[in-house]
Amino acid sequence: MENAIKILMVDDQYENLLALEGILESPMYRLVTATSGEEALKQVLKDDFAVILLDVRMPGLNGYETAKIIRSRGKSRHTPIIFITANHQDTEQVHKGYALGAIDYIFKPVDPETLRYKISGFVNLYKHQEQLEIMVQQRTQELLLANERLQREVKQHKQTEEELRKSEGRFRIFFEKSQIGIILLSPEGGLLESNPAFQKMIGYTDEELKRMVFTEFTHPEYIEKNIELYQKLLEGEIEYYEIKKRYLSKCGKLIWGHLTVFSTRDINAKIEFVIAFVQDITEKKILEEEMVRFDRLNMVGEMAAGISHEVRNPMTTVRGFLQMLQGKDDCSRYKDYFTLMIQELDRANSIITEFLSIGRNTPSNLEKQNINFIVNSLKPLLQADAFGQGKYVQVETNKVPDLLLDSKEIRQIILNLCRNGLEAMTSGGRLIIRTYLENRKVVLTVQDEGEGIRSEVMEKLGTPFFTTKANGTGLGLSICYSIAARHNAVISIDTSANGTTFYVKFNCN
Ligand SMILES: Nc1ncnc2c1ncn2[C@@H]1O[C@H](COP(=O)(O)OP(=O)(O)OP(=O)(O)O)[C@@H](O)[C@H]1O
Ligand SMILES: [Mg+2]
Repeated sequence: MENAIKILMVDDQYENLLALEGILESPMYRLVTATSGEEALKQVLKDDFAVILLDVRMPGLNGYETAKIIRSRGKSRHTPIIFITANHQDTEQVHKGYALGAIDYIFKPVDPETLRYKISGFVNLYKHQEQLEIMVQQRTQELLLANERLQREVKQHKQTEEELRKSEGRFRIFFEKSQIGIILLSPEGGLLESNPAFQKMIGYTDEELKRMVFTEFTHPEYIEKNIELYQKLLEGEIEYYEIKKRYLSKCGKLIWGHLTVFSTRDINAKIEFVIAFVQDITEKKILEEEMVRFDRLNMVGEMAAGISHEVRNPMTTVRGFLQMLQGKDDCSRYKDYFTLMIQELDRANSIITEFLSIGRNTPSNLEKQNINFIVNSLKPLLQADAFGQGKYVQVETNKVPDLLLDSKEIRQIILNLCRNGLEAMTSGGRLIIRTYLENRKVVLTVQDEGEGIRSEVMEKLGTPFFTTKANGTGLGLSICYSIAARHNAVISIDTSANGTTFYVKFNCN
């Protein structure tokens, strides 16, 4: 009977209560009786009722007064009340005083059917309400839990977002401020992002780079090897690779880069992007080449000094005899041959002299003088030489300070560089010789309009006897490098399909 529905019956007449009990008797109900309004209130305080049957006329608290108090209490505010009355006037009063809430009447003598019917109606309502309350409670509980979970998730989300923001910030600083070039590439080789160091190195802006693939600014010589390694990386054959390659900057300059290249994959092991760290090693490479050239010069110098003496001695003897025979009457019909033989010997001798000068590393006759004077004194000679070949020589000297120079050697540098420039051009070409001051250095440049120097030739420049010309000795540039070294000057080259410029930079003393 624990779950039985409680019904309170209030009547001052005990027999009336008994009659009601008789009518409503059921295992579904627990019937509680009260014989006065006061007793009824006590019961209402103790228990929760599905419905209250209330006699209107009672001594002490009558039915209305009792109902009023019941209604004023929070818990029983909505408990349905059925008034039992013998009088229709009573019902009007009920309407006046208690228009709200579930209220009904039943007239004496009580009709059992009507009463049972009304009670079951209210009981059903009560049951529904109870179920509804349970549901509302459950739902509220669920909602509370969901809300708590949501709040936790929001907090966690915010934390993750904050951590991400911080880590992104740290990465940005590293990316933006790094002295090493960093680029992010798509698997197809397109540039997704580049940092300022890389943009500075290559001369293109971020926007320009974003429309390019890496092969567009890689020197053609390195493209094939680079693509091969890139493919291996994408296929997972290698985890990373390193390559030293040349880039072609926007203004056509060649830049040496040392690259370390990695790939990053998403959770499905699919390549997301490729990241490359690029170190500019141009200066290092130039220095290395310079060192190699220097070593070669030293070696050749030593060799030259060793053998030239041995070669020159017999040559002097041969020349002496030839000269003697040339003067003899019996040999007069061979005079022209003797002259030719002596000339050839002299030519061989002068090559040995030039060759020897490569190995020398002490400056010869240094005098304070102006390079412009030397350049201008050579001008007529060079112009006449060029004119004969249908080419032009232009001289542009700017004011430069005096330097300690060996005039014979400087003449030789200028002549060798000009001869190479003129030989590189077809007729109609123009050669420009300039002098100017730049960053406290006096610069001498010789610029031609030839076809430029291919990279395999570039690597060998300055090696004694290296020539691409049928009649060249391959000593011209070696001599230039050795003279420059004796003057503490540095030679650099800019070359493209439109021509070549040689720079000789002297330190101001
Ligand atoms: N201005 C230039 N343009 C194109 N190629 C050049 C230029 N200067 C030098 N070279 C290349 O460098 C090579 C070496 O030059 P180098 O002056 O040492 O010897 P050479 O000119 O061949 O002979 P020579 O000893 O008569 O000067 C040349 O054969 C040529 O291929
Ligand atoms: Mg030459």
